[in-house]
Amino acid sequence: ARTVLVGAGAALLTGCQSQQLLTFGDMASAYNREILWMSIPAIVLSIIIFIGVSYALFYTVRKFREENNDAPPQQFHGNNRLETILVVVPVIIVMLLSLLAVRSLARLNPVPQNAVKVDVLGKQFWWNFGYPAAPAAAGGNVTNGNELVIPTRDWISVTATSGDVIHAFWAPNLGGQRDATPGTQKTWQIQTDRPGVYQGNCNVLCGASHANMRFKVIALDPARYNTFLTAAQAYRAPTPTPGSAEARGYTLFMQGNPATGALACAACHRVQGTPAAGAAGPDLSFFGTRRTLGAGMWEGERARELLHPWIKHSPALKPGSLMPAYDGGTYTLNGKTQKAGLLTDAQIDDVVAYLRSLRLPEEADYWRGVP
Ligand code: CUA
Repeated sequence: ARTVLVGAGAALLTGCQSQQLLTFGDMASAYNREILWMSIPAIVLSIIIFIGVSYALFYTVRKFREENNDAPPQQFHGNNRLETILVVVPVIIVMLLSLLAVRSLARLNPVPQNAVKVDVLGKQFWWNFGYPAAPAAAGGNVTNGNELVIPTRDWISVTATSGDVIHAFWAPNLGGQRDATPGTQKTWQIQTDRPGVYQGNCNVLCGASHANMRFKVIALDPARYNTFLTAAQAYRAPTPTPGSAEARGYTLFMQGNPATGALACAACHRVQGTPAAGAAGPDLSFFGTRRTLGAGMWEGERARELLHPWIKHSPALKPGSLMPAYDGGTYTLNGKTQKAGLLTDAQIDDVVAYLRSLRLPEEADYWRGVP
């Protein structure tokens, strides 16, 4: 019976491969496997105890049933042997479970020295993922907004912080979650054996668009990951051909439209290899390679369609978005009505063209092969 129970428990918990199940997540992650194998003994014990207690209850009720309900029940108290068992057995069970937990903690801490390092910055309501430069890399640090690229098999050491309120980085299928807290850095690890795209979400209530503070983790086999990282480190945003839509978009991106008070995109966004070094909004260095918009709110074709309306009036698409609207009207942010700068539809199209031109080389496109 015990074997059957363990088998049934394991099947129940591992049956779902790619979906989040309870909080164990995906068994392709070594982190999640560790948590599962730590939990199975507790679950099995709970089932055994539940069956034992239920059996004892029904047995007692049946066996000591009295036909005459008016007579007082038999009175007794004190049973040293029973009381000793009732104290000692639970203590042993709790100690066993604690040992299992301590063993798992020891296995998962500290984060392995040779882990791939990633920095996470959470802000209302988006993420920046930074890749500290490899020693040999000529370029500076690489940063990408809302799309985190990791290699499979290796442990990934994630160090999270926040630029405003408390957020939490959680990609359930890759491992545990941690808070991203302003003023502190927390490091832990995630891991997966299987290439693919994994969902992530902020997991601490942080404001109007907490639920829209999503991200994607794209796990690539190590060779492809290295191609990505090398190209990303060497990346310099392409210089647009003079007179092209991209060139007009570049000028608007860097300078805004002073005549109408439209703020420069560069004031808040960074593009690697250009003067744009803003840090108030997500990094846009490889925006043309990205597939998502609004911190994972939309992807693919929908994200492409919405880019223009997004630039025009993002707070209408995403509550609490701090990006200024560019439609020349007014918009409300944090209860304050503000005047928006004006970019014409044609100018917004130019900015869209510039953003789409910010692409990693084909071989470094981490979405390649993803349907
Ligand atoms: Cu950030 Cu919830």
